[in-house]
Amino acid sequence: MRKIAIINQKGGSGKTTTVVNLGAAVAEKGFRVLLIDLDPQSHTTIHLGLEPFKLEKSIYDVLVNEVSPDEIILETHVKNLFLLPAKIDLASAEIEMVNTIGREIVLREALKKTRSHYDYLFIDCPPSLGLLTLNALTTASEIIIPIQAEFFALEGLTKLIQTVQLVTERINPSTHISGVLITMFDKRKNICKEVAEKVKEHFGEKVFKTKIRENVKLAEAPGFGQTIFEFAPDSYGAEDYKKLAKEILIGGTYEKERAGKRPFKLDHINGTKKTKKKR
Ligand SMILES: Nc1ncnc2c1ncn2[C@@H]1O[C@H](COP(=O)(O)OP(=O)(O)O)[C@@H](O)[C@H]1O
Ligand SMILES: [Mg+2]
Repeated sequence: MRKIAIINQKGGSGKTTTVVNLGAAVAEKGFRVLLIDLDPQSHTTIHLGLEPFKLEKSIYDVLVNEVSPDEIILETHVKNLFLLPAKIDLASAEIEMVNTIGREIVLREALKKTRSHYDYLFIDCPPSLGLLTLNALTTASEIIIPIQAEFFALEGLTKLIQTVQLVTERINPSTHISGVLITMFDKRKNICKEVAEKVKEHFGEKVFKTKIRENVKLAEAPGFGQTIFEFAPDSYGAEDYKKLAKEILIGGTYEKERAGKRPFKLDHINGTKKTKKKR
């Protein structure tokens, strides 16, 4: 299972929109996809047409009451797309978990108990770097940071990167930033282009080639409890998330680069290094 957390402590950066629509696009390709709503605001849950207050159990029970995820995971109306939903009680989970031993790895350990198989896991994180986000970081091996193409976009990223590094060093060596995604991009706006350039300067190859364009259909779809592929299949939003899914499926830009580097090293050691042709 590829485990991917979508993280940015800044609210409104496109996390939920990405989790739902990227998840749906990957599910469409025939993979079994599990989404985890780790945000007390329950936006992923609502986006998929569910009413959180009507749910008997949620991710809260997994984290606080040791209920098995299998008892809570729901089949959504989208084929191959499953959801571990959230409701508002999740807001108190961080406090209630304070005295739990190994509180940073509760989610990871709970997921080990799942008997069902999923090919992809996408975790929607809350807009903070608290205990819930830490649980996402220790569970996932790939981190995708969505960045809204706007003026304050880069603020707070240093703190986020430091947090990821600490988790890598202390708890989960396999976790790493695998991709950076520009969201709400409008090529007519200079600020968008400037932010995209800065992000590229900073993250280089980690930046996905696909940019998610600003598209009102993406903002309207949650109100109808639908993914973009149901709500507006011909929209730019649908097109962009399909393209992003393709990039993720082939391993993502950075993943590919990482993988590409390994044989290079081996070739070098074996003395079979090929010279790269200029294109
Ligand atoms: N590409 C986009 N174009 C237009 N609106 C978007 C786009 N992506 C997200 N939105 C809207 O912007 C707001 C914030 O996005 P959201 O995914 O909820 O961010 P987060 O989960 O990081 O808080 C939501 O109202 C969402 O519908
Ligand atoms: Mg959200």
